[in-house]
Amino acid sequence: MKRTEIKTLLQENAVGVEVNVRGWVRTKRASKNVAFVALNDGSTIHNIQIVLDVNVFDKNDLAKITTGAAISVDGEVVASQGSVQSIEINAKRLEILGEANPDEYPLQPKKHSLEFLREIAHLRFRSSTFGAITRIRHSMIFAVHQYFTMHGFFNIHTPIITGSDAEGAGEMFHVSTLDPNHLPKTETGEIDYSKDFFGKETNLTVSGQLEVETAMAGMSKVYTFGPTFRAENSNTSRHLAEFWMIEPEVAFNDLIDNMDLAEDFLKYLIQYALDHNSDDLQFLSNRLQEEEKGKPEDQRSMELIEKLKFVLENEFARVTYTEAIEILKNSKPNKKKKFQYLIEEWGADLQSEHERFLVEKHFQKPVILIDYPASIKAFYMKQSEDGKTVRAMDVLFPQIGEIIGGSQREENYQKLKRRITELGIPEKEMWWYLDTRKFGTVVHSGFGLGFERLMLFVTGMGNIRDVIPFPRTPQNAEF
Ligand code: 4AD
Ligand code: MG
Repeated sequence: MKRTEIKTLLQENAVGVEVNVRGWVRTKRASKNVAFVALNDGSTIHNIQIVLDVNVFDKNDLAKITTGAAISVDGEVVASQGSVQSIEINAKRLEILGEANPDEYPLQPKKHSLEFLREIAHLRFRSSTFGAITRIRHSMIFAVHQYFTMHGFFNIHTPIITGSDAEGAGEMFHVSTLDPNHLPKTETGEIDYSKDFFGKETNLTVSGQLEVETAMAGMSKVYTFGPTFRAENSNTSRHLAEFWMIEPEVAFNDLIDNMDLAEDFLKYLIQYALDHNSDDLQFLSNRLQEEEKGKPEDQRSMELIEKLKFVLENEFARVTYTEAIEILKNSKPNKKKKFQYLIEEWGADLQSEHERFLVEKHFQKPVILIDYPASIKAFYMKQSEDGKTVRAMDVLFPQIGEIIGGSQREENYQKLKRRITELGIPEKEMWWYLDTRKFGTVVHSGFGLGFERLMLFVTGMGNIRDVIPFPRTPQNAEF
């Protein structure tokens, strides 16, 4: 018989039909005459209950129905008497597809800690929490492509191996086939990369922006959505060494257009999750509320679905860096020295504690901070008339801090070249990037949305390692 997915089965609710279902056992309860099995196949957060008459089935087979085992069941869909679902399956034929020895199988039908689930990342797809996250992640990937397609953008595959450091932060993983024990040297004693695979020094990309900008100058509206790599040694709940970034780049857009696009895009994605993932969001919301029960009322966070709707209903505050510094300087945590990094003067880089203060305490809604000091931002940003700031924008979200970083770009050839020289960026690596300003240059803007930061927000999860299947962090590349 052809397999019916559990999601379809529950949607159709067709009592009386014969079906085949396959999946992994979540729990089994047995009484004298019947056994109840909760089966899940990943298609939905919900399990289907299978009812087996223990006098009909082989004792050995019944014993093999343990948590984690894969089974196939033929049976009749009947109205459920007890379970939370309105239907269940009266089993007629049972096949054990794959056993899961209970003495060895690490998942039990109880709540496991997220830390424990991370240690068994290869099995955590079978947990309700990670199943819900996986479905939402897929949904968000799809919505990203849908949004851009609807708005006339073209998807560009930018390279993963590159010779340039887009952000100039120098936090790159080197890519080389040279033998580290026998490195070829130049006459002056440096490593001779001309002998390396690409004949030059290369690394994993930190951003697809520079390449996607060249596509912009011809296609007008483009985006890249790819993996990015950063060797920053920040072991926080918001940083990964390998993460996915969505980077649109739009010709003829200035910073205001860029902010409008970022806000519209984020709201579209959140609305999409509310419209298409309500069961999973409800599950995650219940889970969070369960976790927060122990906390005093004033420390509990807003209910997940309410929080998502709240972002949709409010216009993001648009604030300059200079205004933000004034707010932060005069804030209570700064005066009482509660910030780890005190804000003393204009020019200070903002830490996530400051970003979260602005969003959660001061404005109490998402904030777009613009016009940062040039000294703390990347070389490619549009230089302002004041000679001090650049037309940068960071979108800050509650609980997350920075979710988007972007800017209007410097389209003036001379100004860009001057900045590159000032920062000591090798011009010979930037010739193609500079060419876009030499030939048919246009005002343009773009940004990067950290996909896992978006996932943190939408799922309400607290640790970025729990919203990507196989996290890469310092000292950790298992699986
Ligand atoms: O602010 P960032 O560094 O901006 C860029 O890379 C630009 N080239 C983007 C552009 O304008 N096209 O990174 C963009 C976003 C951040 O706002 C954050 O959401 C995410 O990427 N991000 C990280 N996410 C997880 N782990 C990390 N280590 C991250 N670093 C940045
Ligand atoms: Mg940034």
